[in-house]
Amino acid sequence: MNPSKFQIKQISAQETYKVRLPVLRPGKPIDSCVFDGDILKSTIHFGIYLHDELIGICSFFKNSHPHILDKQQYQLRGMAVLEAYQGMGIGYKVLQFGEAYLKTKGIKTIWCNAREVATGFYEKCGYQIFGEPFDIPEIGPHYTMKRSL
Ligand SMILES: CC(C)(COP(=O)(O)OP(=O)(O)OC[C@H]1O[C@@H](n2cnc3c(N)ncnc32)[C@H](O)[C@@H]1OP(=O)(O)O)[C@@H](O)C(=O)NCCC(=O)NCCS
Repeated sequence: MNPSKFQIKQISAQETYKVRLPVLRPGKPIDSCVFDGDILKSTIHFGIYLHDELIGICSFFKNSHPHILDKQQYQLRGMAVLEAYQGMGIGYKVLQFGEAYLKTKGIKTIWCNAREVATGFYEKCGYQIFGEPFDIPEIGPHYTMKRSL
């Protein structure tokens, strides 16, 4: 795909719901797409557009993980790409863009709670598993992963 067709920019929490709902909360009410802290000033959402259609998203929250000592840390949440566009490098692009932005703000560590099926994606993006797997009700097994910027 021609890279110039893509546009990546900061978006509002509400805009992310267009992708969160079908990809992360299929069949659930729109309220299920609202994450704690979504509208805090410290939270940042990014969207990647193809021909003005939002096709991928990621969000970063100023949340500290109890086992990460670095004070300059953010949590990655709501990583998602519309099904029709998965496996084309879109997730990687929008995540990289967000990480580069946070790096300019002095953030040193990004962590996330990754669905088991997505750990391979995060590994490709430089994240490593730490700690034991755990279950999130209604969603399934998760692993905490982190990377240094
Ligand atoms: C996980 C997700 C965000 C990845 O986005 P994507 O655009 O499909 O991924 P990319 O095409 O950018 O993949 C980047 C690399 O990761 C690999 N990858 C992607 N998804 C993977 C997976 N589930 N398992 C293993 N590797 C994966 C790709 O093969 C690619 O590797 P390459 O560089 O060697 O070709 C997307 O598939 C998605 O929305 N999945 C459903 C929702 C989900 O699980 N979100 C994560 C919640 S924690």
